[in-house]
Amino acid sequence: MKKVPTAEQPIGIFDSGVGGLTVAAAVRRLLPNEKIIYFGDTAHLPYGDKSANSIQSYSQKIAEFLIDNDCKIILIACNTASAYANEIVKSTIATRFAGIKVVNVIDPIVNNITKKRKYKRVGVIGTKGTIRSGSYPQRIIQQNHRLEVVSLATPLLVPMIEEGFIYDDISNAIIRSYLSQDKLKNIDALILGCTHYPIIKNQIRKFFNFDVDVIDSSQVVATQLRSILADANLLNSAENPEHQFIISDYTEMFENIARMFFDEEIHLQCKNIWK
Ligand code: DGL
Repeated sequence: MKKVPTAEQPIGIFDSGVGGLTVAAAVRRLLPNEKIIYFGDTAHLPYGDKSANSIQSYSQKIAEFLIDNDCKIILIACNTASAYANEIVKSTIATRFAGIKVVNVIDPIVNNITKKRKYKRVGVIGTKGTIRSGSYPQRIIQQNHRLEVVSLATPLLVPMIEEGFIYDDISNAIIRSYLSQDKLKNIDALILGCTHYPIIKNQIRKFFNFDVDVIDSSQVVATQLRSILADANLLNSAENPEHQFIISDYTEMFENIARMFFDEEIHLQCKNIWK
């Protein structure tokens, strides 16, 4: 018989590395009674330039690991994995468990943005993989065909952030060089289609003189997660839950910048689930 989830079980969140911690932080703020198991696949980072096949097979394995660790819901906190692996993660879980849901970081933003009638032209920036997948424009246009969507791959932003170039001449020059491209002219909103980018949200808003709505998924995704858990009667009421942070390969970089993304000291465990 398939297992049915209960409220006391943890929420499983995964990303290729640190990026998803921006989403995990929003989940922790909105759902302080939930225990989080976070998996950062640092052994295979970055996902942004990997093939669809690789991303699907990494994501499937991580989903199985999170389910084996008793998670009641899986949040794919990576746009690249959301673009390529949402269906495979869903079907992997469905074969073994009843009622365990999968949340990704693309659909909640698409649902949110397509309801806003004030937008005519929306930009999306993300990794090469996310932009190549066409997931944002396809899903947005399906829901609102009047909306014009322009996408731009901005691959230097992830290594730039991970190397700590955030408020300086280098980051300003890279941000300016990407965002001043003709494609992004006259947009009303810009979707940050990568979970690393909330770290530089203010610099991006400033580049557009605060005239463009810069949309980061973390809050919207956390709200969606809460409403799914509430509807399924799966909200936990535990006091001070102890979160777990697991990475597939130890890197000093991850330890150093994890705090900036999660806004709190975190203790990392290293586990190679592919061995
Ligand atoms: N966090 C990933 C995303 O949202 C990008 C990082 C990577 O390329 O692995 O797409």
